[in-house]
Amino acid sequence: MFEKDLFKDKIVLVTGGGSGIGYTIAREYLKLGATVYIASRNAEKIEKALKELSAFGNVKSAVADIRESEQIQSLADKIKEESGRLDILVNNAGGQFPSAAENISFNGFRAVVTNNLIGTFYVTQIMAKTFFIPQKEGNIVNIIANIFRGFPGMAHTGAARAGVDNLTKTLAIEWVRYNIRVNAVAPGIILSSGLDQYPAAIMKDITASIPNKRMGTMEEVAYPVLFLSSPMSSYISGETLYVDGGNHLWGDQWKMWSESLT
Ligand SMILES: NC(=O)c1ccc[n+]([C@@H]2O[C@H](COP(=O)([O-])OP(=O)(O)OC[C@H]3O[C@@H](n4cnc5c(N)ncnc54)[C@H](OP(=O)(O)O)[C@@H]3O)[C@@H](O)[C@H]2O)c1
Repeated sequence: MFEKDLFKDKIVLVTGGGSGIGYTIAREYLKLGATVYIASRNAEKIEKALKELSAFGNVKSAVADIRESEQIQSLADKIKEESGRLDILVNNAGGQFPSAAENISFNGFRAVVTNNLIGTFYVTQIMAKTFFIPQKEGNIVNIIANIFRGFPGMAHTGAARAGVDNLTKTLAIEWVRYNIRVNAVAPGIILSSGLDQYPAAIMKDITASIPNKRMGTMEEVAYPVLFLSSPMSSYISGETLYVDGGNHLWGDQWKMWSESLT
């Protein structure tokens, strides 16, 4: 679908690239010629992914927690030493758990915001200062979620992702002077490892609120990420692209959770 070698000579970092959507994004960049770094907390997961992804191209890995700024700076230093530059950052790492808002503990709320919002900012600022700003060139794609009408059933991640959505707009304006584009992709319900943790009661009727009655595939998220980080979107910045089969516009999103969460 994309031109062969579209990302030849490009260096890409995909956080959370050891599983699910991040893994698929990493694989698709590799197929188009990029050198791809995948990073996450679980060494075993990242090693396994490294082995598998090596079949598709030049992949490198690191164990790093986005909540720990020193670990992210070490990751940046490693990329600099090995590859000399970074062209594309995909902020994909994240996680949350379903809960009615009144039942989320303060610690649980703080944990999700720390991971999905604060961790994303650490990675973004460190990669920008180490690479994109001095290079006067860079491209950032933030993976958020379908927060268009709030996020009933996951108030903590809704708030955190709304923060990243706003950050996407702010940085797109502030960093245009460094020739950095910043966009976001908001996946709807995607058939991936991320759904493993959700209760069976939710999974049973999960497609009922989606206009076309099916979940999205991981490739359907990866392709828009490739597009937004390619020259094909060179006049797009500060945008959030919903990849949800129209679910942000239609469907009762609370119904999906309410029976199992209240
Ligand atoms: N699947 C969906 O329907 C859906 C919808 C909307 C948004 N999303 C978002 O899309 C992203 C990918 O989701 P997925 O479905 O592919 O789930 P996933 O397989 O659970 O992927 C999340 C990845 O993030 C990594 N991660 C989590 N916290 C991290 C941290 N503090 N530091 C570094 N890495 C961290 C995890 O690896 P480690 O455990 O090894 O750290 C994991 O590889 C997530 O941000 C998710 O919330 C998914």
